[in-house]
Amino acid sequence: MFISLEGPEGAGKSTQLPQLGAWLEQQGHEVFTTRNPGGTPIGAQIRQVVLDASNRAMVPTTELMLYAADRAQHVAEVVRPALAAGTIVLCDRFTDSTMAYQGYGRGLDKDLIRQLNAMATGGLRPDLTLLLDLPVEEGLARAAKARAADRLENEQIAFHHRLRAGYLALAAEDPDRFVVIDARQAPDDVQGQLREAVSRLLGKRS
Ligand code: TMP
Repeated sequence: MFISLEGPEGAGKSTQLPQLGAWLEQQGHEVFTTRNPGGTPIGAQIRQVVLDASNRAMVPTTELMLYAADRAQHVAEVVRPALAAGTIVLCDRFTDSTMAYQGYGRGLDKDLIRQLNAMATGGLRPDLTLLLDLPVEEGLARAAKARAADRLENEQIAFHHRLRAGYLALAAEDPDRFVVIDARQAPDDVQGQLREAVSRLLGKRS
């Protein structure tokens, strides 16, 4: 089972995902928690380049290809082998991030992104995508408290509004795969809803 967690900046993914993984392990499942970009040693190098705030000259096409390169390596090196071994894979961001950020945010061609995503993943799609949604200003304020802004977080507010709307459009287009959760709720309530969504999927599979 392959589950991705998505959301704009400051949605709380990195707090929620390990808790979800620990809960699944308590239920006796094998779980592998990973992320895009940076889920492999090569991906970690790509992550540094793509997020480095001093890389101001980076053009959108380069950015798109770096995320795709990270994902190709990640799927082949760790995700497919884990799924083949029967492990539940929890992934912090996946192909929907590329559509939201590079497609809706940067305005790159969405058909081309679909093709590039398909190429990078060999057609692998999440069984479930959990989208943590919250207003842009709130998310950016939370992210700013947590750490120094990276290259993407430094983008203008309009970019962040476009990508949030993009995420919601992707969820509306694919309601069988997406579950949208209001990330403004208390962290325990968010976690509860994540668990409910995963339980529903586990129920369907058993
Ligand atoms: P995060 O994993 O700490 O959220 O940081 C990753 C950043 O990279 C975040 O700003 C979203 C962005 N991103 C893209 O723009 N496209 C992608 O395909 C992925 C995976 C991430």
